[in-house]
Amino acid sequence: MSLELLQRKELFRQDAFWSGAWRKGNPDLKIEVTNPSNLEILGRVPSLGRKETLEAIQTSLHAFQDWSKRPAKERSILIRTWSDLMKKNREDLAVLMTLEQGKPLAESRGEIDYAASFLEWFAEEGKRVYGDIIPSHRRDTKIEVIKEPVGVCGILTPWNFPSSMITRKVGAALAAGCTVISKPSELTPFSALALAVLAQEAGIPEGVFQVLTGYPEEIANTLIDSSEVRKISFTGSTRVGKLIMERSSKTLKRLSLELGGNAPFLVFDDADLESAVKGAILSKFRNAGQTCVCANRFLIQKGIYNDFVSLFSESVLKLKTGNGLEKDITIGPLISELAVQKVENHVKDALDKGAKLQLGGKRIEPGKLFFSPTVISEVPENSLSMQEEVFGPVAPVYRFESMEEALQVANSTPSGLASYVFTEDYRKMRFLAENIKAGMLGINEGLISTEQVPFGGLKESGFGREGSKYGIQEYLNVKYVCIGGF
Ligand code: SIN
Repeated sequence: MSLELLQRKELFRQDAFWSGAWRKGNPDLKIEVTNPSNLEILGRVPSLGRKETLEAIQTSLHAFQDWSKRPAKERSILIRTWSDLMKKNREDLAVLMTLEQGKPLAESRGEIDYAASFLEWFAEEGKRVYGDIIPSHRRDTKIEVIKEPVGVCGILTPWNFPSSMITRKVGAALAAGCTVISKPSELTPFSALALAVLAQEAGIPEGVFQVLTGYPEEIANTLIDSSEVRKISFTGSTRVGKLIMERSSKTLKRLSLELGGNAPFLVFDDADLESAVKGAILSKFRNAGQTCVCANRFLIQKGIYNDFVSLFSESVLKLKTGNGLEKDITIGPLISELAVQKVENHVKDALDKGAKLQLGGKRIEPGKLFFSPTVISEVPENSLSMQEEVFGPVAPVYRFESMEEALQVANSTPSGLASYVFTEDYRKMRFLAENIKAGMLGINEGLISTEQVPFGGLKESGFGREGSKYGIQEYLNVKYVCIGGF
């Protein structure tokens, strides 16, 4: 039971898409892609490097000459058609995603909708890229501000959201008039390649969207070092984000970096318990805890603490772990052995430091990469799971006394991506909205991602915003024009 489920077999490509064609690359250099649920090999993709990346850059530059000059409406129609094709092929794209990434099919379907929504959104936003006319300081001049696409963009995306992290960037870039070279994670390239099939079917011209498969270093470094690539957008770890920023300084590229998080999830005594627990489940266990905006640390006030831990644990017990293609599964496998070892280590560390295991805490069937949904209470602040991004189905719960303490713990991290607060007190909501150091805040809500909002972080979670009316600005340069002689 696997690839036979696809209605349209041609969406499954084992080659890459650059310089105007589907190509196999060097037949001796291939990457095997496995299904994390059962470790079966799904297929192989080319392991490309510097040579192919340089070719793709030239193709992209060439395509930019025409694409950037097309009327926004013309680009919009093509991007919109691409989005419509994603919706039409939703089931196949979702199956492919579950096979290579492991997330439950319902979540994959949700991700395809989410991914298509970015193309649809930016197809519209592209038509609203306005400049300005500024009152001049002299009688004989006129002043204009115009917006121009930044040029060829390299986008580097992770395995946890194999489609939407691509469309969130590509939609904005293409709508702005840029051309894109996409380097998906080597763990989940098939979703990206299926997107390229649909881009071609939509009529996106040659060289406007290319997909290079391979290990990150050589492709990414070639993109970063090229002075012809004018922007890199990266979603991934803070460690790699810093390396990209350092290396990009040689060509002073524009950057968008969406990096790691360590989201605090604060529940106050006055919160609605059921809605807090519902939010906690959504926020923590989506994609088996493998999202940058997952609640990482649960900070619960002392008066509601025991009730929260008990109702939360009861709800976690209802989650069903297994192969994401099977009915009613809500938690899939983790992506790799290393990912499982990391959460094992977080659990052990918390227990060694005196925390209490409420449930879970170990690997479970039906495969090597499954980890049971875990709740640990009385977790001290110096535990690894409070300090680092967990990226797995483990929920550490910390007890706090006062708002001041909660805020201090919430902000005591170099990360600042998402945060969550549950309270019925309007004053607390306002105070925390103004004082939590994060780029995004959910108040009485555990699921905050959608295409209309500016997604992005502060501090070491990076910079730049994706989605929303702000997202397209990341792919535009502002040019001032002074016209004399009046
Ligand atoms: C991410 O984990 O980087 C993205 C999650 C989202 O868009 O909700």
